[in-house]
Amino acid sequence: MAKSRSGVFEKEANELLNRFNASLLFDKKLYFQDIKGSIAHAKMLGNQNILSQKETKTIISGLEKILLEIQNEEFKFDLADEDIHMAVEKRLGEIIGEDISGRLHTARSRNDQVAVDFKLYVQNSSLLLIDLIKEFIKTLLDIAKNHTKTLLPGMTHLQHAQPVNFAFHLLAYMCMFRRDAERLESSYKRNNLSPLGSAALAGTPYPIDRFETAEELGFDAPMSNAMDGVSDRDFALEILFNISVFMMHISRLAEELILWSSVEFRFIALSDEYSTGSSIMPQKKNPDVPELLRGKTGRVYGNLLGLLTVLKGLPLAYNKDMQEDKEGVFDSVETAVICLKIANETVKTMNINKENMSKACAKGHLSATDLADYLVTHKNIPFREAHFITGKAVAKAEELGVDISQISYLELQKIDGRIDKEAEKYLNLEASMNARNSKGGTAENRTAEQLLEMENWLKSQSKF
Ligand code: ARG
Repeated sequence: MAKSRSGVFEKEANELLNRFNASLLFDKKLYFQDIKGSIAHAKMLGNQNILSQKETKTIISGLEKILLEIQNEEFKFDLADEDIHMAVEKRLGEIIGEDISGRLHTARSRNDQVAVDFKLYVQNSSLLLIDLIKEFIKTLLDIAKNHTKTLLPGMTHLQHAQPVNFAFHLLAYMCMFRRDAERLESSYKRNNLSPLGSAALAGTPYPIDRFETAEELGFDAPMSNAMDGVSDRDFALEILFNISVFMMHISRLAEELILWSSVEFRFIALSDEYSTGSSIMPQKKNPDVPELLRGKTGRVYGNLLGLLTVLKGLPLAYNKDMQEDKEGVFDSVETAVICLKIANETVKTMNINKENMSKACAKGHLSATDLADYLVTHKNIPFREAHFITGKAVAKAEELGVDISQISYLELQKIDGRIDKEAEKYLNLEASMNARNSKGGTAENRTAEQLLEMENWLKSQSKF
């Protein structure tokens, strides 16, 4: 009979119940956290004289042996054990005898045990993701440093808007990813409180030391209310949300990589190592990697919505519904990890075609705003009127089949006599980019400032 079935049961569990009820198939991923949590709990029980030193030692050495067995893939997982907690406990009994193993669960419930295991997994995952995100920012930064002079069309509504440099464009993504890392960090800090010792829901009559186990497991302190301790899954929701926002960002970048690698743009070429072929069209190289980065965002959003929905109607404290909290989190974490690794390599190895980027700037009258700004600044014309005159100038350029950056001032004078030769200087694309030198703007000096700021942030981040 499974260990969780006390003397109150007369019959074995039905096989169908075992399959339906068990979480072992997925929560075995938590074996490390489970054993770590149990060792901390056993140590504390020993220090508080709830267990003898001898019992504590025996329990800990048994748990360490189990850890090795699982790591060496010698451990036999049996679905009838229901979950990782019962599986470890049963094996402990086989190794050290039930007389002693049976004492480990003193002053503990599976409710606080699963909460602490899962929280340890989430906290550790946040740290891993923060590291990977920083590595990715570093890759983008290294690329950007070489492209403060590389012009490309900045767009709004996917229409050519104003010229920017490529470093500036990449910096926009770095800012997003920096916020993602900071969001994970803030969730980590907020949630770094231990649920262990909450017991089933109401605390325990044993003289436990929750501060000791909290510290041993790397938490800042115990959670303050035992009922909240076993019911709270905000930490899981937060990582799901944090990953969702991160994936939304990476999906936007992926979308641009897809566009940029198309025949229409040819701003970049993905390396062969990270491109796929078509089974029928031999000429094709497909951007499957960025497409999957974009596509996987959907399942990550689904995991967030799924858990929010599972939790919304639950009365306090633990309910079995909460067992549904894990698979989505595992999936989102694993998805984000592989997405970060492959995005990093894809971006690192892509070929950047400066010439095509700058050629594209000669289309779409990107410096039209500069003509309007010139009329305002040098001819004291109200912006609305300048905007109107510039519209006429663009129409003229269209008529002549040239870009506004290449039109002669003599043509412009026909539209408005106040325009003189100096206007040509302002219509130059590079000048247009460098004119946007307000704080945070695309001008080369401002871009350099932003690169430095990002680099300094990265440097300050060795640990928090
Ligand atoms: N497998 C369970 C889960 O994942 C562990 C907690 C079970 N607690 C209980 N009282 N049934 O949530």
